[in-house]
Formats: sequence, structure tokens, C-alpha cells
Amino acid sequence: MRYNNKNYDVSFNAELKFDDNFQVSRTPQLYFGRGSVSSLEKIVSSPGNGTAAVFTGSSFLQKTGFRDKIYRMLTGSGRKVVFFAIPGEPDPSMVDDAVEEMKRNNVTITAAIGGGSVIDAGKAASVMALHSGSVRDYLEGVGTLHLKGPKLPFIAVPTTSGTGSEATKNSVISSVGEAGFKKSLRHESMVPDYAVIDPELMISCPPEITASSGMDAVTQLLESFVSVKASVYTDSLASAALKAAGMNIEKAVFNGSDVAGRAAMAWAAYVSGITLTAAGLGVVHGIASPAGGFSAIPHGTVCGTLLLPATKYIINRLFEISPDGNALQKYASASELLTGRDYKSVKEACYALIELLDEWTLKFSMPYLEKYGFEENLIRKTAAASDGKNSPVRLETDDIYNIMMDRLKENN
Ligand SMILES: [Fe+2]
Repeated sequence: MRYNNKNYDVSFNAELKFDDNFQVSRTPQLYFGRGSVSSLEKIVSSPGNGTAAVFTGSSFLQKTGFRDKIYRMLTGSGRKVVFFAIPGEPDPSMVDDAVEEMKRNNVTITAAIGGGSVIDAGKAASVMALHSGSVRDYLEGVGTLHLKGPKLPFIAVPTTSGTGSEATKNSVISSVGEAGFKKSLRHESMVPDYAVIDPELMISCPPEITASSGMDAVTQLLESFVSVKASVYTDSLASAALKAAGMNIEKAVFNGSDVAGRAAMAWAAYVSGITLTAAGLGVVHGIASPAGGFSAIPHGTVCGTLLLPATKYIINRLFEISPDGNALQKYASASELLTGRDYKSVKEACYALIELLDEWTLKFSMPYLEKYGFEENLIRKTAAASDGKNSPVRLETDDIYNIMMDRLKENN
């Protein structure tokens, strides 16, 4: 364990720039903490009549017995409830089919209780219920229509700690295959109206999903922290969440019944949704979109496995081109926050960050890309469709190819 329980300062704190303008999207009304799931009954009964649509994963609620408890809470409000089981990352037909049934059932409020995919599906359905046509027509880079905005009241209840979808204004919808895509449905109005974050709902999340979703949250925090669009707002939030994630990700993975560790990771993931919305993301997410369209690799897995090589590549490039720049200071600060240690120099801190990510990649058994059907040609195709997003260095297709090849297979 890296933490020595001493208070530490962030000695490389890059300058906070109060002269930059920034915009902040609204955030959900938040119910956070152990037992907070019971607030669902009150939330669901408040906005009126009609049916409640509840999106869940295909087995979670049945397995843990939470389904009955939640069903009682929802029906206690006097509403009829229709359930939709989402088996994986949502594709357009899953959303379209659900919306059709929601319209037939006079649904007036939607909740999603599950991982990022379930929340994305429910969030997309809540906005599509008040729009016509297929969700595909509204996806960025796929369709030509634009959302006008209104949606049904939407409650996000995460059962994993990863994508931060409970705080974001987009849903990721994919279609996997040769001409596959993974694109966003996005509108300011899509931020959930309510987020209910109860760490007890996360206890049964298995270690491998806790690890990949936790690594997704860390990636989102780190990428928004070093983003060229970072602001004093996102830095303040991301700093505290990076520290929480560094102290708790191993506890959540290896001691899943530690509610405090689960709560810390849940909070870190929620914050990552806020910081990514405000500051954007970096190359790992720039790769994750096309990678998830060409292969059925889960989002958390692609992020978790690429965070190490991408961070190493960017830090090494920064030492070549801008050794005294702000970006390396930010990586050094992130290193102290995640490791809980002080370092004497930026270089020492940056290499400690790479070492920590290397350690997590190994400890969490992050899979290599070849497990999901990647080979050199598919990596070349994926790299050509990727972009560096708001990474602090410019990354060309060849750079992205090199980052991906680093995680193609063992001893590559
Ligand atoms: Fe992500």
C-alpha cells in the first residue's frame, strides 16, 4: 500500500488560471451515500401520474434481490412500472424498441439502475420518448437530426463506478462490426435530473468490472485534469477525486464489501462525469470510440488497458518538446495525488505515475487488445479513425498506432 497516512501537499500544483473563461453544465440533484436508494420512492412519486420505465442490467437486480425492494418502492408511489433489461452496451435498436414500448405504456418518468450502459440506454430513451424517428438519426457523426431538448424526468442510479454517465449530458450508443460506430447522443438537457448514488448497490459488482470501470474513472479524471480545456473548476474537482481514487481503487477491487472504499470510487466516478463534460477528454477516449465500434471490447477495458501506454507516450513526448511546460507539472501533480507521495522533481513524479499505472495494469489483469480480435491491421484502421481529443500534445495516427501496439499482446 502506497499511502503512509501523512498529510501531503501537492508541490507541483500547476498554476490555476482564473483569467480563463469556462462554462459549466448543470448537475443532477444528488442523493449520495449508504441507503440513499430509498430516496427513489420519494423521487418517483413527486412528478405526477403515468407509468415509470425502469432500465436495469440483465441480471444484477434479480441476483441481489434489490429488484423486489426497488419494485416495492416504485409501485408504492402508485405508478405502474415497466422494466427494460439492457444486456450490454446499447445499440440503436435497443433504444428504439424501448421507446416504442414506453410510448405505448404512457411512460412519464424514467429511471436507470445499473452500469454505464444501462444509464446511457435509459438516458437516451428518456429524451427519444419526446422526439420522433430513430435514435440513430440523432447520433453525432452518424445522423443528421438535432435533438430539440425536452426529455422525460430521468433518475440515474449507478451500480458500478466508472463512466460517470450519472453526471454527463450524453449517451454512448454503438453498433459493432466492420462499419461499426460508437457515437454520442448529446444535449444539455440530457444531464440526469436526479442521481442516486448508493455504495451498497455496488457491493456485488465483481472485481474485474470494478477494476475496469475504476480505471475508466481514473482515465476520465486524468484526461480532464491534463486537458488543454481544463479550468480552475475542473482542476479543483479532479484533484480531490484523483486523490480519492488513488486511495481507494485497490480496496474496491480486492475488498469489494468495503462500503467506504466503494463510496469513494462512486464519488470519483461521479466527479469524472462532471470534469469530462466541462474539460473534455484525451487520446484514450479518442481511441475508445472507434475501438468500441470495430470490436466488442467493453469501454472500461479499452480505457483501462490503454491508460498506461498513452500516459507513458505523452509524458515522454512532453519531456522532449516541453520539459518545463505546464502539462508535465499537471502530470506531476496527478502523480502525487494518485500515489499519495511527495516527489523531489517533476521527472521523478511523472515516472512514479507511469510506475503506478503499470502496477495497476498488472494487478487488475487488464487484458491485451488481441483478446478482443485486434491485430495489426485493425489497430491501423482504429488509429486512423481515432483522435487525440484535448490531449496536451498533438498526436498523429502513427502515434496512436504506437500507443495501441504497445498493448496488442504480451511482450509485444
Ligand atoms: Fe470513459
